[in-house]
Amino acid sequence: MLKELFIGLSQNQLLNTAAKKYGLKLGAQTVVAGTNLPEAIQTIRELNAHGISATIDNLGEFVFERDEAVMAKEQILDVVRAIHENGVDAHISLKPSQLGLDIDREFCYENLREIVAAASEHDIFINIDMEDHARLQPSFDLLDELHKEYDNVGTVIQAYFYRAEEDVRAYKDFRLRLVKGAYKEPAEYAYIDKAEIDRNYIELIEYHLLNGKFTSIATHDDKIIDHVKQFVEEHNISRDKFEFQMLYGFRRDLQLQLASEGYNFTTYVPFGNDWFGYFMRRLAERPQNLNLVAKQVFTP
Ligand code: FDA
Repeated sequence: MLKELFIGLSQNQLLNTAAKKYGLKLGAQTVVAGTNLPEAIQTIRELNAHGISATIDNLGEFVFERDEAVMAKEQILDVVRAIHENGVDAHISLKPSQLGLDIDREFCYENLREIVAAASEHDIFINIDMEDHARLQPSFDLLDELHKEYDNVGTVIQAYFYRAEEDVRAYKDFRLRLVKGAYKEPAEYAYIDKAEIDRNYIELIEYHLLNGKFTSIATHDDKIIDHVKQFVEEHNISRDKFEFQMLYGFRRDLQLQLASEGYNFTTYVPFGNDWFGYFMRRLAERPQNLNLVAKQVFTP
């Protein structure tokens, strides 16, 4: 019930737009690293000091106007420059919808290409985050086209999709982030049952660890993390072939512990005014995060 409620709220355009005006509220500041780029860079410096890399997401949702997509592109180009100029250990995560996928595919491609080209000059990796089912194939198509010219680009495979196994095989030569999947998808396209998602997730991870280029295992789930640790040990998979990833503000102790155990680790660092949808999806995944909200609301 709560999951449905928060996913519904994340998709509410009015609330998303309204929230932009008020800065980080409701406890969002515990999972969003500020509203501006200097704040995000400061967070990344702190992570880097602990041996943790970062992937930066300049938050953006509901982009239906060309000028909004162009603004998002300019902001992400600023992030590229900031990573380079500050010499921080970081790459970028972005969403095709933020760059105009829902407006015009070619326009989105040109925006994306400009970013990937600028990032490639400084050897900065660009991850195309995956959104809901409607945007899945169009996002893979964008990736295919970009990959003809650039190799500093990769994407995400969401284990809840039935097609994920086929995708992980097709994209084995890419750097891939493997996740369970965050959107509400119909049974027509995706596993609904948690156990089935977890089973598929483990199969995808094992396949890509054995056959793929570089694997980012993005989860907060101890069972999955322990399984990966054991699997790489048993199969002699070198630590430079994979990393763990978690979201900023989640399981900080475990993030530090994995980094101190010598695993490559990347924290996903979202920042910006457009925090509402991102925050609601996090609450949908784990309503216990409501504690975050409650603490903020009741703390003077
Ligand atoms: P899940 O929520 O299934 O929890 C499993 C178990 O882990 C819990 O029962 C609990 O034991 C433990 N656990 C989880 N969170 C915990 C916490 N905060 N504290 C203590 N224990 C906890 N999705 C998508 O669709 N597209 C994308 O591009 C991305 N990108 C992305 C990047 C990164 C870096 C991450 C970490 C995640 C994503 N996701 C995503 C989100 C992903 O699909 C998924 O929705 C969330 O990671 C939640 O699933 P988990 O695997 O973390 O565990």
